[in-house]
Amino acid sequence: MNIVLDRSGRTPLYLQIRNALREMIINGMLAPGYRLPPERKLAATLEVNRSTVVKAYEELAADGLIESFVGRGTIVAGTPGAGTANACVEPPLRWTHLFNRESARTSDPLISNLLNHLGQDDMINLAAGAPAPELYPTGDIAQISADIMAASGHQMLEYSSPQGLLSLRTCLAEYMHQRGISSGPDDIIVTSGSQQGLELAARIMLEPGDNVLVEEPSYPGALQVFRAAGARLVGVPRDRSGLRLEVLEQAMLRYRPKLFYTMPTYQNPAGTNMDEAQRRSLLEIAYRCHVPIIEDDAYSEISFDEPPVPPLAALDRFGLVLYLSTFSKMLFPGMRIGWAAGPGEVIRQMVLARQLDDIHSVTLAQEIVTVYCQRGLLQGHLVTIRQEYNKRREAMLEALRQFAPPGMLWDNPPGGFYVWCRLPAGVTGERLLSVCRSIRVGFVPGSAFHADAGGSDHIRLSFSRCEENEIRIGIERICRAVRQISKEAGGIGERNKTDDMAPLALL
Ligand SMILES: Cc1ncc(COP(=O)(O)O)c(C=O)c1O
Repeated sequence: MNIVLDRSGRTPLYLQIRNALREMIINGMLAPGYRLPPERKLAATLEVNRSTVVKAYEELAADGLIESFVGRGTIVAGTPGAGTANACVEPPLRWTHLFNRESARTSDPLISNLLNHLGQDDMINLAAGAPAPELYPTGDIAQISADIMAASGHQMLEYSSPQGLLSLRTCLAEYMHQRGISSGPDDIIVTSGSQQGLELAARIMLEPGDNVLVEEPSYPGALQVFRAAGARLVGVPRDRSGLRLEVLEQAMLRYRPKLFYTMPTYQNPAGTNMDEAQRRSLLEIAYRCHVPIIEDDAYSEISFDEPPVPPLAALDRFGLVLYLSTFSKMLFPGMRIGWAAGPGEVIRQMVLARQLDDIHSVTLAQEIVTVYCQRGLLQGHLVTIRQEYNKRREAMLEALRQFAPPGMLWDNPPGGFYVWCRLPAGVTGERLLSVCRSIRVGFVPGSAFHADAGGSDHIRLSFSRCEENEIRIGIERICRAVRQISKEAGGIGERNKTDDMAPLALL
């Protein structure tokens, strides 16, 4: 096992070790069941501290790539030979050697891991960014499905337009019109979730080596898509008043990015909301610098405190914005209905690209969502979920106020599903997660929202999936674990207050 460390580089040593091992595991060089060297031995070989190797192993374990067993040591996860019909007869073909470059860039299992853990009921799940299943309008959906199948069952089982059903696009145009966006049905493509919107946008616009500006922190599903397209990610930092627009302008001028990806409304993970003046300034800057914007608006309906600010797409006089949204957070994610709206030529190209994917979103799912909106059920549902998520948010904030040790900081999110929380000095999200796993509570470490080595000092706590009592228990456990780790590290420390002001970073 040959790991070469770059001691003069920006990437911390533990990440270099993690990355090297991860690549060997994913490439199949280290097969399932392979025993990794004990931490102390690897540390001696690489001439690093043992804690560096411990941290690297913790990250690999968090990604599900390795497992530790008392007495057996640390082994590569998975069953040896699994996935082949005749595993014990012949050594199986190594498919992993055939994977192309894009596959190598798409090797982060974070999202699959989060989704796979959704159903584990002994775990308090403050990790998932999904709505609460008990709030899904299952009765209405059952009735609507039955009505549709009775009226036009054959049509629902047919292929349909790659751009999406005209009835749904008409509904979406009306819905966006109420929010100030003037797109018509022809300027919209229905996508299989807004994740597909991101992927299509990246596919039609990005070439390997292009720069893409992203907020720091940002949604990992978007970072992964841009990375898979071969883009270089440039992070634009934010402070407590929002995105640092002067840094954004410098970055646009310096890096000449192909696009800027932003979530102005209830950002994932930070929960922040750009005010209208900032939105207008952002559009002016992007126009001056000729940089198009992807506005990802997944959470704007989950609002608590304030009247909604118009989306960038509603304020855009320049034709700069490709707008993405989804029913995944406001209704349910399983039908995979999202949409993109923007300049006609962009939408047409996305439709062409989409024909190579899944051809179209599921016809029946599109029709169900259309009828749900046409029957006027969406507005009532939104009122109900806002009330419920607001209670859960309050429960989380209250528990944090009660249990958080000094040095732990968070903001009150005006909408969305998340509290973005800063940890005391000496506590990293990864270390905390490894302790919290054993006490059955999950969250997402902040590093997942940074494409470089940043973010270890934050965690994202989601209040959408758990009831108030569970949230309270979960937060109490997390805070207890923070205290324990801080104690081991020699006491709770305040972080440097200027940490948020990190310089522009090439991610
Ligand atoms: C900001 C953001 N954009 C897009 C998505 C993807 O959502 P969808 O289920 O519509 O693909 C998510 C999901 O968590 C998200 O948080």
